[in-house]
Amino acid sequence: MVRIGIIGVGGIAGFHIHELLNQKEARITAICDIDEEKLRRVGDRLDIPEEYRFADYRDLIACAQVDAVEICTPNYLHIPMAIDAAKAGKPVEVEKPLGADYGNADELLAVLEEKQLPGMMCFSYRFRPAVRYAKRLLEKGLLGEIINANVAYLKSSAFWEGRRLDWRFVKEYAGSGVLGDLGVHLIDMTSFLLGDFKRVYAMEKTVVKERQRLDSNEWAKVETDDITAFIAELENDVFVNFLVTRCAIGNENTILYEIYGTNGVIQFNLNTPDELKVCIGEVDKETDGLHTIKVPARYGANQEECFVKAALGEKPEYYPDIREGAKCQKVVDALLKSAKERVPVEL
Ligand SMILES: NC(=O)c1ccc[n+]([C@@H]2O[C@H](COP(=O)([O-])OP(=O)(O)OC[C@H]3O[C@@H](n4cnc5c(N)ncnc54)[C@H](O)[C@@H]3O)[C@@H](O)[C@H]2O)c1
Repeated sequence: MVRIGIIGVGGIAGFHIHELLNQKEARITAICDIDEEKLRRVGDRLDIPEEYRFADYRDLIACAQVDAVEICTPNYLHIPMAIDAAKAGKPVEVEKPLGADYGNADELLAVLEEKQLPGMMCFSYRFRPAVRYAKRLLEKGLLGEIINANVAYLKSSAFWEGRRLDWRFVKEYAGSGVLGDLGVHLIDMTSFLLGDFKRVYAMEKTVVKERQRLDSNEWAKVETDDITAFIAELENDVFVNFLVTRCAIGNENTILYEIYGTNGVIQFNLNTPDELKVCIGEVDKETDGLHTIKVPARYGANQEECFVKAALGEKPEYYPDIREGAKCQKVVDALLKSAKERVPVEL
């Protein structure tokens, strides 16, 4: 049994809690948030005793009822909180992106290494059946030599009615806008499926330039990107073009991924996470037959189950290690530099 403490019980923590409640080998024993109301609401719902509801994350980490820690706070807090959890000898799961920037990521990796602890990134889309099955087909070499990929993450959340200047629009807290928020999923998926990044070139823009502050009606500048487009060259010479946007009206949350090889094509849209479109091999190619296949159910996996297993000492297949989170963060930082200086940046 793993006793889990969650730091930050806002939006995404709801997903963690829902999934953890279905895990036989885990129990949520403590929570932390600086927002008293959320702490009370979530604490009451989960029946967490008052003494295990913390306002200071260091108290949750030190709590003897907590074996492992999940970090669901805004980006700039991830690395310092994860370092403290690791120093206390507790396995840690960190929401993406790893940080607002690379910052002290090396220290985090060193502490995890020294203590031989599991550290997991919440690259949630890696657990979707379509992504894992695509990985399996690629591992078998069925697409031949990979030539290029075309990738998009489309949301319309920049246009949510009345949306205010929450932390996602402030550079100090978020590091970047859609790039770190949504793009990092695509960056991880690309490293996972196709290979490491070698060189990137990015353009970004902010479409909704001002928003009202959370605590007053005063208008303030949005400091992070609403849309980023970039191209990347991977170590294996595959090139990939990316579009990441929260200004795509008509798309609540759409991820599109297309991989082109010398012997075939794989496409998926994660709105149907158990389907792939494929055109592979002689017969398909000859008839130009891109067709839909259902991914066998056994290819799906569960993020929270994966962390619980890792905390119990297992190494689940396709486990998203924090080291991979650090590599993705280097790509995000390189893209920010590229967009700012309007030059290609080497990794
Ligand atoms: N894996 C995914 O697909 C996915 C999806 C959504 C969000 N996220 C990530 O999850 C993280 C949180 O996002 P969210 O949408 O839940 O944000 P949110 O604002 O809804 O929740 C963050 C919570 O952290 C709390 N918090 C802030 N500072 C704190 C501190 N010092 N100590 C304790 N609690 C503190 C806030 O009060 C809030 O309740 C972000 O890093 C985001 O990128 C990941």
